Amino acid sequence: MTRTLKSPNDVRIVAVVGSGVIGIGWILHYLRMGLEVRAYDPAPIARTRISEMVAMSWPIMEELGLRTGARMGNLVIAESLANAVATADVVQEAAPEDVKIKTQLFADIDAVAPASTIILTSTSGISMTLIQADCANPGRTATGHPFNPPYLIPLVEVLGGEQTDPEVVEWTMEFYRTFDKYPVFLEREVPAFIASRLQEAMWREALHMIAAGEATVEMIDDCITEGPGLRWVVTGPVMNFHLAGGPDGMKHVLDHFGPTLKEPWTRLIAPELTDELRAAVIDGCNRESAGRSVDEMVLDRDRAIIAVMKARRESAEAATRRRSR
Ligand SMILES: NC(=O)c1ccc[n+]([C@@H]2O[C@H](COP(=O)([O-])OP(=O)(O)OC[C@H]3O[C@@H](n4cnc5c(N)ncnc54)[C@H](O)[C@@H]3O)[C@@H](O)[C@H]2O)c1
Repeated sequence: MTRTLKSPNDVRIVAVVGSGVIGIGWILHYLRMGLEVRAYDPAPIARTRISEMVAMSWPIMEELGLRTGARMGNLVIAESLANAVATADVVQEAAPEDVKIKTQLFADIDAVAPASTIILTSTSGISMTLIQADCANPGRTATGHPFNPPYLIPLVEVLGGEQTDPEVVEWTMEFYRTFDKYPVFLEREVPAFIASRLQEAMWREALHMIAAGEATVEMIDDCITEGPGLRWVVTGPVMNFHLAGGPDGMKHVLDHFGPTLKEPWTRLIAPELTDELRAAVIDGCNRESAGRSVDEMVLDRDRAIIAVMKARRESAEAATRRRSR
């Protein structure tokens, strides 16, 4: 189908459907971008939670820099799904990760949103082909998978389902670029996409080590934040190995460490989430939190990520200056 899509620069209103951790993150991001935001969430507590979280995190938005016209007052919390999406240029869905809920929700949004509205899901891994299955107009639906918190982490994985119009995927890429995100286009519907799949591999290892009593929650977190995590901020996991191979880089790494790939170092089959394992992980997180609330730790985390991003940018600029001398 040929559709007329407005320029992403002309997007004025974004509806965020589902306002939990990710939905509130999107609300903050789009408000910071100077857009009008309509939020909808059926939970009775949602209105209070959205207002509190937006007010609490606004100083972080100011620190990141507000686009012209950006203000908290551009948020309207709608009483119904239909009201939320009625005038939206884009809908960013962030409801629970459940294929039945998302498929129904997409059919509902598709039925009430204007024909020109683009509808995007935040799913971490559910196939867009399934989510769009009951839509009358599936061509305008696509996946825009963010990373927590969406107002800070630039990456969005973008892909369509079998019925998505190719130009809608292209438009979605441009839309995210226009509003300060770093979209990566996936040509195929890879289950769990790229980044979640990498994260899941490590998460499974962590749960195995806790279940087997080989490591505590604190040891696992320290081993990343004081170790490879610092490098991953600058180089991805592949380039990281290339830089660890001496002058021959990856060639040396593969020849040197290649044989160990066959060692049983990893056990990438999902562990059984027993009551004991569940308790050990939750207890470990409580110990590591040392009495701090999640909200407090979120603010500390955000400030630290902003500082890291700033340092990374300055370092890259300094390297460019050095090379051009
Ligand atoms: N948490 C993460 O780190 C993360 C990262 C990237 C993507 N995601 C994806 O974002 C989506 C939301 O995840 P979350 O972590 O914010 O979940 P969450 O449980 O924090 O929030 C989900 C919200 O959806 C609301 N909801 C329930 N039914 C709804 C409906 N029919 N319509 C609208 N809203 C409804 C709930 O009241 C709740 O506020 C999921 O698809 C998830 O996979 C999560």
